[in-house]
Amino acid sequence: MRVLLSAEQIQSSIDRLAAEIREREAGRPLTVIAVMTGSIIFLADLIRKLDMPLRVGVIQARSYLGTERGSLSVNADMLPDVAGRDVLVVDDIFDTGHTLLEVLSFLDDLGPRSIRTAVLVLKQGKQQVALRPDYVGFEIPDVFVVGYGLDYNDAYRNLPYLAALEPQDIESERAS
Ligand code: IMP
Ligand code: MG
Repeated sequence: MRVLLSAEQIQSSIDRLAAEIREREAGRPLTVIAVMTGSIIFLADLIRKLDMPLRVGVIQARSYLGTERGSLSVNADMLPDVAGRDVLVVDDIFDTGHTLLEVLSFLDDLGPRSIRTAVLVLKQGKQQVALRPDYVGFEIPDVFVVGYGLDYNDAYRNLPYLAALEPQDIESERAS
């Protein structure tokens, strides 16, 4: 495993994102919606740097495997009311973009006043959708990353930094 972004690099990027968000969303209470589960640590760090009125809610996007491979379902059981609200959707990583697109189209149907999106990392050259997040912490090459909320088979979310999982790490995970 190789450290890609240190805890310090992540914090200074979140400082910048928070400043951008505070400036652009100034004067309007925000409804921050975190896409579970990978965004929990990013959410916790980001909202503590947003010195403005806000509410927090969560939503989950699950991808079906098997016959409906690639299609997503949204679990909104814990979503607060977003009608007429200014919403900021927070996700860990923007890869193909399908997850965020699905979440946005779900939320859009609920009639928010505005929706913007923030992601900690964007994988370069992977996007399959026209959407581009409004706030991006880092652009990274196409490697599988773990830590700072992101998992591989539910492991590694608790690493305080972002690491690239190398092929041999994946092999040894399989063997254990
Ligand atoms: P999408 O391809 O943009 O729809 O991303 C789907 C989801 O896959 C993300 O929200 C992450 O939860 C997960 N994901 C994509 N790339 C990685 C990665 O490198 N590490 C861990 N999770 C990832
Ligand atoms: Mg995710």
